[in-house]
Amino acid sequence: MILITGGAGFIGSNFVLDWLAQSDERIVNLDKLTYAGNLHNLSSLSKDPRHIFVQGDIGDTKLVSQILAQYQPRAIINLAAESHVDRSIHGPEDFIQTNILGTFRLLEAVRAYWNELESITQQNFRFLHISTDEVYGSLTQNVPAFTEEHRYKPNSPYSASKASSDHLVRAYHHTYGLPVLTTNCSNNYGPFQFPEKLIPLIIVNALAGKSLPVYGDGQQIRDWLFVTDHCSAIRRVLEAGIPGETYNIGGWNEKPNIEIIQTICTLLEESFPSSTFHKLITYVKDRPGHDRRYAINATKIERELNWRPAESFETGIRKTIQWYLNNQKWIANIQTGAYREWIEKNYSRLR
Ligand code: NAD
Ligand code: DAU
Repeated sequence: MILITGGAGFIGSNFVLDWLAQSDERIVNLDKLTYAGNLHNLSSLSKDPRHIFVQGDIGDTKLVSQILAQYQPRAIINLAAESHVDRSIHGPEDFIQTNILGTFRLLEAVRAYWNELESITQQNFRFLHISTDEVYGSLTQNVPAFTEEHRYKPNSPYSASKASSDHLVRAYHHTYGLPVLTTNCSNNYGPFQFPEKLIPLIIVNALAGKSLPVYGDGQQIRDWLFVTDHCSAIRRVLEAGIPGETYNIGGWNEKPNIEIIQTICTLLEESFPSSTFHKLITYVKDRPGHDRRYAINATKIERELNWRPAESFETGIRKTIQWYLNNQKWIANIQTGAYREWIEKNYSRLR
C-alpha cells in the first residue's frame, strides 16, 4: 500500500481517483482538511475499502508514526502543502508551518520507520516529494526553460517554503540515504481545482457575471499542464525514477494570462451564445513580487522515463470548462463564508 498526503486537495484527489481506477493497491490518505481540502471530491470512494482516509497534520509526528506502523506503506507521496501564492503574501505563517516544519516532521517520522525496515524493503521504499517550478524563480522572455540544473531563486513566501522543503528532502537522501524523489511541476488545471486559482476563478466568476481580474498587464506567462497528466507523471516517477534525482514536469504550453482568460471567455460564449464574457475582463493592481514567466524543460522525464502529456491545452481547457459547467453544485458547496472572506480580502486590495 501507499501513503499519500494532501489527497483531498486538487491534485491529490485527482491522483487518488486515477490511482484506484488503474490499480487495486490500497491508499492511505492523510489530509488535514484545510479550506483547500474537500472530501466531496472523493465521495465516489466512500464505500471503497481500497481508500482509507485519515484526517490529520503531516506535522503530527505521533499520528504519522502510528499510520506508518499500522499500514506499512511501500511509498509515500507528499502533496500536502499550503499552495496559493496570494495567500502566502497575506499570511506566510501557515506556509512555514506546513511546507517547511510539516515536511521536516514528516521526514523525521519516515526516517525512523524506514530505518527499521528489512534491507530489501528499505531499498525498494520511496519518498516522493511533489514540488513546483516556482522554486526556480522568474524567467525573462526568450531565455531557455527551467531544467533540473537551474539554480533555486524563489521569490514568494510560498515558493521559498517549497524550496526549503525540497532542500530538506534532498538532505535526507544525501545524509541518511532515504530513497527520495522530487518532482517540480508547472501550473496544473482541471477538475476539483479550488476557485482561488486563475482558471477556476475565471470560470466561476464568469458564470456568476462577476468581473474577471487580470493582475497587472496580464502578460505574465505560465506553463500549463492538465492535472491527470501530472498524475501520470507522478505514477511514472514512483515506478521508475532514480532515488536522489529530481524530475521537472510540464506540458510545453506557455501562455500569457490574458490569453488564458480570453480563451475561457470564447469557449464559454460557445456554450452561452447570447452572453459576452469578454466584457467582464478587468485589469486590477498587480500581485506584489509577481513572477513574470515560468517555463519547464521536460526533456529529462520524457527521455529517461518515457513520460509524455496526453492532453494539449486546447483539449484540457475544454474538459475543464465542461467539468465546472457540469458541477455547479460542487462550486456552490465550497462558496462558504470563508471563501467569500478570501475573495473580499484579496480583491479589495487589488482594485
Ligand atoms: P491544494 O491547496 O489544492 O491541496 C493541498 C491539500 O493539502 C489540501 O487537501 C489540504 O487540506 C492539505 N493540507 C494542507 N496542509 C496540510 C497539513 N499540514 N497536513 C496534511 N494535509 C494538509 O494544493 P494542490 O494544488 O493540489 O497542490 C498539491 C501539491 O502540489 C502542493 O505541494 C503544491 O505545492 C504542488 N504543486 C501544485 C501545482 C498546481 O498548479 N496546483 C503545481 C506544482 C506543484
Ligand atoms: O507554477 C506552479 C504553481 O502554479 C503552483 O506551485 C502553485 O501551487 C499554483 O497555485 C500556481 O501558482 P500561480 O501563482 O502561477 O497560480 P495562480 O492560479 O494563482 O495564478 C496564475 C497566474 O494568473 C499568475 O500569473 C497570477 C495571475 N492571476 C491569478 C489570479 C488568481 C490573475 O491575473 N488574476 C487572478 O485573479
